[in-house]
Amino acid sequence: MNTAFTRLLQINLPLIQAPMAGVSTPEMAAQVSNHGGLGSIAIGASTLEQAEQMIAKTRTLTSKPFNVNVFCHAPAQADPERQAAWMQHLAPYFTEFGIAPRTDLKEIYTSFLASPDMLTLLLDTRPAIVSFHFGLPPASTIDQLKAAGIRLIATATNLTEARAIEAAGLDAIVAQGFEAGGHRGIFDPEHDDAIGTFALIQILRAQTRLPIIASGGIMDGRGIAAALMLGASAAQLGTAYVPTTESIASAGYQALLLSPRAELTRITRAISGRDARGMVNRIISEVGQAAPAIVPDYPITYDAGKQLHAAALTQGSQEFGALWAGQAASLARAMDAAQLTQTLAAELKEALQSFSSRE
Ligand SMILES: Cc1cc2nc3c(=O)[nH]c(=O)nc-3n(C[C@H](O)[C@H](O)[C@H](O)COP(=O)(O)O)c2cc1C
Repeated sequence: MNTAFTRLLQINLPLIQAPMAGVSTPEMAAQVSNHGGLGSIAIGASTLEQAEQMIAKTRTLTSKPFNVNVFCHAPAQADPERQAAWMQHLAPYFTEFGIAPRTDLKEIYTSFLASPDMLTLLLDTRPAIVSFHFGLPPASTIDQLKAAGIRLIATATNLTEARAIEAAGLDAIVAQGFEAGGHRGIFDPEHDDAIGTFALIQILRAQTRLPIIASGGIMDGRGIAAALMLGASAAQLGTAYVPTTESIASAGYQALLLSPRAELTRITRAISGRDARGMVNRIISEVGQAAPAIVPDYPITYDAGKQLHAAALTQGSQEFGALWAGQAASLARAMDAAQLTQTLAAELKEALQSFSSRE
């Protein structure tokens, strides 16, 4: 395959395994990269030490390019009143599981924007590609990463964000549609245009000049082919890789993804403090009914969400977990990351051939 994105990185397949904090692993990323795609590790929710280990581990498993993903959200502002109100909202659920929560909620991980050590780590280790989610870092950071020879990409959910990415001098745009599993990459958490992947690819293709990476609701090679037809240079698949052997998604989460439960997903702010799409469980359908105005900042809300999930898990319940999944989640297949990557490549080839033979 030869697209603007495969040329940029000298890789064989127009396929990125999405970075997925808490799910993707060095093993997953390396398998994808070793089979011609671009594997990704997500260090947005990691400590510096964990990030360092993940990068080093991936390096031992592949000599191919891989992507390292960071979160560029505005650092959380503590708001004791809002946090107390949120804990009060959650209190009946903790009572249900007979567990008293910690009420001193914390910002459980630090934004890349406030982590100079993380920047130093990237400059020292020089992964082939770094990707930004939830916004962009300042120009000085972008300049330093570019000067180190690192290719840069970022998520856009609308034309304004895509134009900002282009103006910042990045190499490609991840066009994340509303179908996508996990967190919306929106720059401003209060502003979401909710554009679908199909529309977004075409809009960005027409109005920007950078290679477009389609993301959201793509589960097989035919979906990748469709994205390429619309003008994308690659596709980034997240949910499809959640039930792979190399995933660290819990067994319960993976089992639900492979069950009829995967047929319905919804966006909620109640789990982490920012909008994200997952399979509907009680934290979405019940807790999420609260007025969003009382949700503490991301990721302070996540501290409460993770405590509640841990409490529910003591009774074997997945009803309060972050079961991130995209709208096409019911098409997920259980296999290992190498097999999935090879299957996607074969399906893509077949889809493109059958399309051109029909022409
Ligand atoms: C479990 C999960 C975790 C995710 N975590 C991240 C992340 O850490 N960084 C990121 O840029 N995107 C993350 N995403 C979003 C993906 O990059 C991508 O936009 C999305 O998976 C595409 O939609 P799909 O799941 O339908 O393939 C995550 C998605 C999922 C499903």
